[in-house]
Amino acid sequence: MATNITFHAGSVDHSERAQLLGQKGATIWFTGLSASGKSTIACALEQHLLHLKKAAYRLDGDNIRFGLNKDLGFDEKSRNENIRRIGEVSKLFADSSLICCTAFISPYRQDRQVARDLHEKGGLHFIEVYVDAPLSVVEQRDPKGLYKKARAGEIKDFTGISAPYEAPEKPEIHIKTDEHDVAACVRIITEYLTTNEII
Ligand code: PPS
Repeated sequence: MATNITFHAGSVDHSERAQLLGQKGATIWFTGLSASGKSTIACALEQHLLHLKKAAYRLDGDNIRFGLNKDLGFDEKSRNENIRRIGEVSKLFADSSLICCTAFISPYRQDRQVARDLHEKGGLHFIEVYVDAPLSVVEQRDPKGLYKKARAGEIKDFTGISAPYEAPEKPEIHIKTDEHDVAACVRIITEYLTTNEII
């Protein structure tokens, strides 16, 4: 634990930065089971926003675990720490006027609440997107063969099988990926961003 440290505020706060750059920052926080479609939708949204000339950047569970969070596993404490770090990083991106699209299972309500509070305390937009698909559907998709391995007992603490997933109670956006295709999901999110004057 660091001691004797002092927070140093810059000369430009996030509202002035947004005005100067002509873009508001935000975090779009995708949560859902493995294979629910988080990464696919986050990728498509990032691409769509960039084509609209909006600075956007995606943080993805699998990718971040190759670098920043490579010291973390999938037990509850590690997932808490994974999401705590991503909450902090995405807040920095949002503060810099960027639209940060995070795609993490983030199975615990309390962890997502911590990330939300961090943003909202700083006056930053936090948009929780519940990427919803029933377990039976994601298990059938099983693009990486992980559900099969989890059912066979080859992966422990697997979300939905041997580890919990706490669905959001009041997400800003609720998307059912067994009913909407990727383009429709991107449209729904873009409409939300436009209606709420984020883009
Ligand atoms: S978490 O719960 O938010 O900390 O997980 P996250 O950082 O998003 O990482 C999820 C990806 O890791 C792979 N994987 C597992 N997922 C769930 N449970 C277990 N035990 C596990 N082991 C490996 C899996 O590819 C997840 O990617 P997605 O894109 O969600 O399928």
